[in-house]
Amino acid sequence: MDLSPAVRNLKPSATIAAAAKAKALKAQGIKVYDFTLGEPDFNTPAHIQEAAILAMKSGHTHYTPSGGIPELKAAICAAYQRDYGLEYKPNQVVVSNGAKHSIHNVLTTVIGPGDEVIIPAPYWVSYGALVELAGGVCKIVDTSEESGFRLSAEQFRAAITPKTKLLLLNSPCNPTGAVYSRSQLEALAQVALDSGVWVCSDEIYEKLIYTGEANTSFATLLGGKLAPQTIIVSGVSKAYAMTGWRIGWTLAPVDITAGMDNLQSQETSNPCSISQYASIAALSGPQDTVEEMRVEFAKRREYAIERVNGLPGIQMPSPGGAFYAFFNVTKHFGRPLGAKGRVVHNATDFCTALLEDAHVALVTGEAFGAEGFVRLSFATNLDTLKAGFDRINAFLGG
Ligand SMILES: Cc1ncc(COP(=O)(O)O)c(C=O)c1O
Repeated sequence: MDLSPAVRNLKPSATIAAAAKAKALKAQGIKVYDFTLGEPDFNTPAHIQEAAILAMKSGHTHYTPSGGIPELKAAICAAYQRDYGLEYKPNQVVVSNGAKHSIHNVLTTVIGPGDEVIIPAPYWVSYGALVELAGGVCKIVDTSEESGFRLSAEQFRAAITPKTKLLLLNSPCNPTGAVYSRSQLEALAQVALDSGVWVCSDEIYEKLIYTGEANTSFATLLGGKLAPQTIIVSGVSKAYAMTGWRIGWTLAPVDITAGMDNLQSQETSNPCSISQYASIAALSGPQDTVEEMRVEFAKRREYAIERVNGLPGIQMPSPGGAFYAFFNVTKHFGRPLGAKGRVVHNATDFCTALLEDAHVALVTGEAFGAEGFVRLSFATNLDTLKAGFDRINAFLGG
């Protein structure tokens, strides 16, 4: 059977592929220092687990409304009121099976054939594939290390064409950890307002910021003037250590959420009922575990920054949020590396050599539209980080 053109051209998620390579080595009994996957290593807080158990015991094990149960939609609205002063109504919320699914549904709902989506690079691995699946065209705009990997208003304006529909923005950013300041976001919002281009703001790392600033939700910008043109995506995966529960959401004007709800009713019927009840506990229950995990990530970030900048020939802009270190390894291309003296010429080969020779797994920057860079996830304990960095250091001849 011939596969459809859409799926035939689809590349597997590079982060998942890199983690699979590491797992294959582990299966051979080799100790691998795995820094590939983007998920908290903490367990889901107990009160959230208990809410799920209670949901099951209370019989909440059936289909739910396609876009999510009213109680969860109300909890999401209340959380945005509490955290950002935003007044969303339940009919402006669609709950999906993780933020990745939310982004897929947003793009499928608003993007037509040939519509352009501006994506600042480095970008999250799935954006390009999801835009193309929706029939859209990616307009990649490179940001520089010097700008801290942030898209400027001038770059945004220059990338707009008559076909531009959407800017896909991610702050805090995976893979760079870049956090835009409120004034930088205001400048982007002004370009969006002037041009009529919509903004889909992926705020999945909103609770993981280490710079002392709170997250700025895009819908709050310009006194709320841009909200009618803003689509917010977030979820419970990163803030509440709930990656496996698969709950994400979209906040948008009602014509979009109605379209997404329709789409989802045909696609998946609804997000998991039990996970939805657990997510109510996450959003409405005590928030101290969010801060506890953030503080723990902050320690690992400090350590990762110090160690990355101590590697031979490597300096990186400090990640302000998320849990990734993203650094340039081009100085090590074309010279012998590690005990076997391997010579590499790109970031993908660098990661392969590092994994095979030093048993440390990173993700190549090529997956994020940034050749010459690698991503290290510091969502792992300090002992593992220390041992992994010692090995990277030795591999680089440090
Ligand atoms: C930038 C970004 N957006 C969205 C997601 C998807 O999150 P979820 O697990 O809720 O689908 C991720 C997950 O790694 C991410 O890094």
